[in-house]
Amino acid sequence: MNTRTYSLLDSVLLNVDHGIRTVFGKPPTTERDNPAASCDETGLAEQDKRIAARLMRVNHAGEVAAQALYEGQALTARLPDVRGKMERAALEENDHLDWCAQRVQELGQHTSLLNPLWYTGSLAIGAIAGIAGDKWSLGFVAETEHQVVQHLEEHLQRLPAQDSKSRAILQQMKEDEAHHATTALEAGGAELPKPVKKLMALTSKVMTRTAYWI
Ligand SMILES: [Fe+2]
Ligand SMILES: [Fe+2]
Repeated sequence: MNTRTYSLLDSVLLNVDHGIRTVFGKPPTTERDNPAASCDETGLAEQDKRIAARLMRVNHAGEVAAQALYEGQALTARLPDVRGKMERAALEENDHLDWCAQRVQELGQHTSLLNPLWYTGSLAIGAIAGIAGDKWSLGFVAETEHQVVQHLEEHLQRLPAQDSKSRAILQQMKEDEAHHATTALEAGGAELPKPVKKLMALTSKVMTRTAYWI
């Protein structure tokens, strides 16, 4: 766990560095293996391959946004007792980012061209959640993760049946996200008001619909 205190300028520079790595590079991951590594590549029909790549691009964009949400919150939230756990969660999001990026490439497509936009928008939302105070900020994490779990369930239904590699990645992500939600709730996250939940769902719908194509 990092206990150093950073100046505002340090924090801003670290954030810019993190953003560039998230969108264009490969941020540090955990020790875990890519869950797809143990699955065989099945010969997908061109049409199925295209659908799978688009779905995985959406998931990659979601993970870019997740990175920015965590970073934005870290800028403004105190979270003194749970910072270590949240850092682990953020690192696991890097695994997701990496696994999805690899899979999109294997399926022959590019990640979302709008990733810089998803990152900056989510960074701002995360920072606002952080300012609202730890209980709301943790509640926001829990609600985000709940919505991501629902979204992943939908994608698991929509993935071509033979794409066991993408499926293995999404299954592991789903488990991780559910765990992140529990961690945030146990750390004192509050239930968000319904209109906020609805607004969050609407925002992510815009992102997922757009990233499917661009
Ligand atoms: Fe994730
Ligand atoms: Fe997560």
